[in-house]
Amino acid sequence: MAKCVLGVIGGSGIYDLPGLEDARWERIESPWGTPSDAVRRGRFKGREVVFLPRHGRGHVFSPTDINYRANIDVLKRAGVTDVVSLSACGSLREDLPPGTFVVVDQFIDRTFAREKSFFGAGCVAHVAFGQPVSPRLADRLEAAGRSAGVPVVRGGTYLVMEGPQFSTLAESRLYRSWGCDVIGMTNMPEAKLAREAELCYATVAMVTDYDCWHDAHGDVDVQSVIRVMTENRAKAQDLVARLIADLPDEHEPCPAGSDRALDFAIMTAPDY
Ligand code: ADE
Repeated sequence: MAKCVLGVIGGSGIYDLPGLEDARWERIESPWGTPSDAVRRGRFKGREVVFLPRHGRGHVFSPTDINYRANIDVLKRAGVTDVVSLSACGSLREDLPPGTFVVVDQFIDRTFAREKSFFGAGCVAHVAFGQPVSPRLADRLEAAGRSAGVPVVRGGTYLVMEGPQFSTLAESRLYRSWGCDVIGMTNMPEAKLAREAELCYATVAMVTDYDCWHDAHGDVDVQSVIRVMTENRAKAQDLVARLIADLPDEHEPCPAGSDRALDFAIMTAPDY
């Protein structure tokens, strides 16, 4: 088995991972185009960690404009085996107030203006995706969150919308009627591409607001997202530090098959 190398994708409000030793920004070229930024490579408790700010430093890429293929590709090229995504999100449930960290286990992809696959013309592949999150990595995230003392909820469905505008009230109510738990703009196609790249993937969705459905709370706006993420940042970074301290040396085989997703996925005949 390969050495375990953790990749961390930081969402809104998380543009660096403090505490990394020998940390340096490293530009990695990708044939898939321009990634959001250079990666921050360093060591933590002897383990190699590769951090990528999803929106770029300074938050310069909107959810639609992020080159998700290039981002996942540069993490793969950097030697990453396991990816943790840190993402701000809205809550679609009364009992998930701002400040809650949800280790989601499902997604509904409502995005429509993004490149979603490394495959296509000339090489067709269909990876299994019934379990989009790697359960062992999610176990470790849950444990790290609990030891960091943050309010962690295990499991939940993350609705991924295109944005950049927030939802209408009718949309927010629709997603609640579907049983979705949180809403955000970035985890798709990121999770799909991680699967195609045979990377384990898990998300900590950090609730910043009640979107626009809750009568007792104002509609989400950027100020509220930034305010709560500023409060959450140190907790998220502590959670990641605890996760890293607890990771095994060797990459653990994924019960969801993430790390061998292409074994039986390619449809195109090899001589075509
Ligand atoms: N990110 C943070 N809050 C959000 C919301 N309510 N909708 C979509 N993305 C979000």
